[in-house]
Amino acid sequence: MSRRAPKIAPSILSADFASLASELATIDSADWVHVDVMDGRFVPNLTIGPLVVEAVRRSTSLPLDVHLMIVEPERYVQEFARAGAATIGVHVETCPHLHRTINQIREAGARASVVLNPSTPASSVEPVLGDVDQVLVMTVNPGFGGQKFIASMLGKIETLRRWIDERGLDVALEVDGGIGPETIALAARAGADVFVAGNAVFGARDRGEAIAALRKAAQQAA
Ligand code: DX5
Ligand code: ZN
Repeated sequence: MSRRAPKIAPSILSADFASLASELATIDSADWVHVDVMDGRFVPNLTIGPLVVEAVRRSTSLPLDVHLMIVEPERYVQEFARAGAATIGVHVETCPHLHRTINQIREAGARASVVLNPSTPASSVEPVLGDVDQVLVMTVNPGFGGQKFIASMLGKIETLRRWIDERGLDVALEVDGGIGPETIALAARAGADVFVAGNAVFGARDRGEAIAALRKAAQQAA
């Protein structure tokens, strides 16, 4: 099994939007920047669109991991790719034609990520596992930062890790929601290799230290 070095992706949902550029400067030791796009329909919250993604793009050299929590995401894939998304994640719950949407993301030049709500089983992405660059297992119900990690998702992470390794696939396994120094160890042990963290990074006074602590905890556990 060739486990990759853990990647830390701070979620700007917990950042101060009035000073995004300086907030982004505090996380330059991270690997990716996670950007949560919410439409007030798929999830109750409303956040940002391609215009802000484009502004984030200009303010950091880190790749943008864009998490679309919107209905009919296929309508906006092109726009988010053009705005500078390196990775575009779509929820399987919003994609009746998931295989087509994955291809659309890749044709737009981005990495394709498929995202699973806590109540959605691993089997829902099994048929497309060979067609994606990433699977994102939600460890909270999407919509808000600062929620509690749902530990019963660990089995789903283990299952996906097993399938990815058995098939020798080059697919990143990401977790999002309630990740902190303790829960990151559980997720890493279960097989995740990319870790989104909102509050655990932006709630810390020293963001660099928070990122280093998360990275260390993930490395030690894996
Ligand atoms: C939740 C978002 C997450 C959120 C994570 O819907 O997808 O990315 O910002 O925040 P924490 O790490 O605070 O749970
Ligand atoms: Zn997210």
